[in-house]
Amino acid sequence: MQYGFFDDDAKEYVITRPDTPYPWINYLGCEEFFSLFSNTSGGYCFCRDARMLRLTRYRYNNVPADAGGRYFYLRDNADVWTPSWMPMKSKLDRYECRHGMGYSKISSSRNGLAFKQISFVPLGDNCEIHKVTLTNESASEKNIDMFSFIEFCLWNANDDMTNFQRNFSIGEVEIEGSRIYHKTEYRERRNHYAVWSVNAPAAGFDTDRQTFLGLYNGFDSPQTPFSGKANNSVASGWAPIGSHHIKAKLAPNESKTYVFTLGFCENPQDQKWEKPGIINKTPANKLLEKYNTAEAADKALAELNAYWKNLLGKFTVDAASLSRPDDIKMARMAGVWNQYQCMVTFNMSRSASYFESGIGRGMGFRDSNQDLLGFVHLVPERARSRILDIAATQFPDGSAYHQYQPLTKRGNNEVGSGFNDDPLWLICGVAAYIKETGDYSILDEKVPFDNDEKLADTLFIHLKRSFDFTVTHKGPHGLPLIGRADWNDCLNLNCFSATPGESFQTTANFESGVAESVLIAAIFAFVGPDYAEICKRTNRADEAAYAEKEIKTMTDAINLHGWDGDWFVRAYDAYGKKIGGKECDDGKIFIESNGFAVMAGIGVNDGRAVKALDSVKEHLDSKYGIVLLQPAYKNYHLELGEVSSYPPGYKENAGIFCHNNPWVTIAETVLGRGKRAFETYTKICPAYREDDSDLRRLEPYVYAQMVAGKDAPRHGEAKNSWLTGTAAWTFVSISQYILGVRPVFDGLLIDPCIPSDMKGFAVTRHFRGADYHITVDNSAGAEKGIKSITVDGKAHEGKVLPIFNDGKVHKITVIMGAC
Ligand code: BGC
Ligand code: NOJ
Repeated sequence: MQYGFFDDDAKEYVITRPDTPYPWINYLGCEEFFSLFSNTSGGYCFCRDARMLRLTRYRYNNVPADAGGRYFYLRDNADVWTPSWMPMKSKLDRYECRHGMGYSKISSSRNGLAFKQISFVPLGDNCEIHKVTLTNESASEKNIDMFSFIEFCLWNANDDMTNFQRNFSIGEVEIEGSRIYHKTEYRERRNHYAVWSVNAPAAGFDTDRQTFLGLYNGFDSPQTPFSGKANNSVASGWAPIGSHHIKAKLAPNESKTYVFTLGFCENPQDQKWEKPGIINKTPANKLLEKYNTAEAADKALAELNAYWKNLLGKFTVDAASLSRPDDIKMARMAGVWNQYQCMVTFNMSRSASYFESGIGRGMGFRDSNQDLLGFVHLVPERARSRILDIAATQFPDGSAYHQYQPLTKRGNNEVGSGFNDDPLWLICGVAAYIKETGDYSILDEKVPFDNDEKLADTLFIHLKRSFDFTVTHKGPHGLPLIGRADWNDCLNLNCFSATPGESFQTTANFESGVAESVLIAAIFAFVGPDYAEICKRTNRADEAAYAEKEIKTMTDAINLHGWDGDWFVRAYDAYGKKIGGKECDDGKIFIESNGFAVMAGIGVNDGRAVKALDSVKEHLDSKYGIVLLQPAYKNYHLELGEVSSYPPGYKENAGIFCHNNPWVTIAETVLGRGKRAFETYTKICPAYREDDSDLRRLEPYVYAQMVAGKDAPRHGEAKNSWLTGTAAWTFVSISQYILGVRPVFDGLLIDPCIPSDMKGFAVTRHFRGADYHITVDNSAGAEKGIKSITVDGKAHEGKVLPIFNDGKVHKITVIMGAC
């Protein structure tokens, strides 16, 4: 069953009923201020850091689900209701939520009163704007009382949820007309406050939660809207909220519009106060004046729309060019939603979603490097500075902090290091950046090691240390030591944790010097050639020769010790025993090493690659995607760690861990098997499961980290939407390998690999200062192979398009078939 539909022209997902199987959310904001916004106006916001600068409170895993957000209670002739459905679950005559690019709209009606809310974070300012319009659609005059409602978080989201002996005594507010200021902790070490304002006179206000709600009431039955009159309560300690009481007299057909703004304001240390105890409101005044009218809000929204139009113009898929009706789903994902999700993962890493609390996880070294693969074409300059931030958290020996804090940009000691795949992802990210931009100057940037300026060296040296770290940390089979874990955080081969509740990621690690990862070896074989190429192109011929030699040595080790007869082995444990081999009782075959080894081209010439991918299909495939391993671990294995802690079919224990599915997709294109590549792409693609939303449960417009595998009772159910490396890798797989428009060092490579019955397609790609309008003709019914290419009407030799950098549009015609 569907709960909505894609409006492709508007680039919106339209939710047509509020009771979606899980809150279906959107992200507002793409610079410093971010809001999570559900289809019933639930969610919260923060500035820069989801843990440290949280403006509004959110209770995770709450009942009822998704209680808490920006709410508007309407009182119409003693009938009180919430137009976003939640929190009162009001019966609505009409309801629609449109999630668009950086904005969301909710419109509804009840008893002749129509409500419309447009919510967004404007470019350039740290605030949430909610433009609210009330319309009287009835035949008689209406006197409406509207009560806005937000609940302030006391900034540090972790403390806010745990340290009540302090929290209940520190809350402070100030009220000035229609402006409610939240200034908890401002008197001491904070230079920021929040303001919740409306551009109209308020008949009253409330800032004390209990006064507004009434004793023992929830958000679904607040006393004040029912009484019809605000109490003008001034919070002192306990739980500060912001609520305006607006009175609206509406003649039949009359509309009134209000602009509500929730802003984050900062003052320099020496200008914090207007007078003793009274905050300096200069930044708030400036912000609120800017968005003081509906027209000003509309203008800001138009600017946001233009911003996204431009961004999504960098890569577009022409739906009209597709011969098979279902391919529209691919077009809307690849052209719009997948790229949109890539922006969100780039901004958030794994910090704040409806599954990640925003408290525990900073920016991941491995995650952020991969996220930028799907983002670098959108805003390359931001990818550039992100790379430099990430690299600064690398240790001088090439290993790295696994995470860093977005506010301080310093490596996170709590999680530490020791994930031995981390260093290689830096090479992967930098190579993608250079291929996209041609900007080799990034290699000369001086970047600290361990955030210490004194240890700074060029980014190139960082890459070298990454490469060398793998070369110098090998085990008995000449394969890379796994450390705490590799990409699969749950393969904890040196952990041996028997203590309940202990974190597999951070607990003492007994470095065995034995446990090895075939996946890290394959990643090395995949990114190594890019490192060698970068060396060649920057006059480092000796280093390139050394790199090539090491890649060969690693490939030999994979072939010798990483091959199990029909597929690639996954790892060796701390006793030197195989993981992912036929001799294993459970976990005989894993997806990761097979996908990555074939991506790296290993076994392509000797039949192993075909065998490996056929084995993946035979043993790991399912209706909803490829599961991570089989057979699922049924018991906990001390020597394997978290992977065996999950019930069969969930997460890394044989769940469909979507992030690694596109590795198989890409690997299939390496073999030229377009039909199978496309099939693996569509199986995890959310738009293809839109009418199956009851089972899938999560948003049909974004990828989820995990879909329950075939061993799980609810095979096909998704979890952890939005913040997943699946976004970047699926975008890479569809845009660069299936549709085959791939940035390489010398230009734009064209090398599609599609199902033979796909008769062709057209895409546009902005690349290094020019626009490429590419039309691919596959009337030959090929899966791979190019017969001819013409560029601006002239025959072109080879598959790499020239770098024009002339600001012009170039017409490219590609004919597939045998050459
Ligand atoms: C999850 C992993 C995740 C790790 C780190 C584990 O519980 O299964 O997917 O990467 O935690 O937070
Ligand atoms: C989620 C983590 O964010 C990512 O870094 C990791 O690779 C996967 N889980 C697999 O364990």
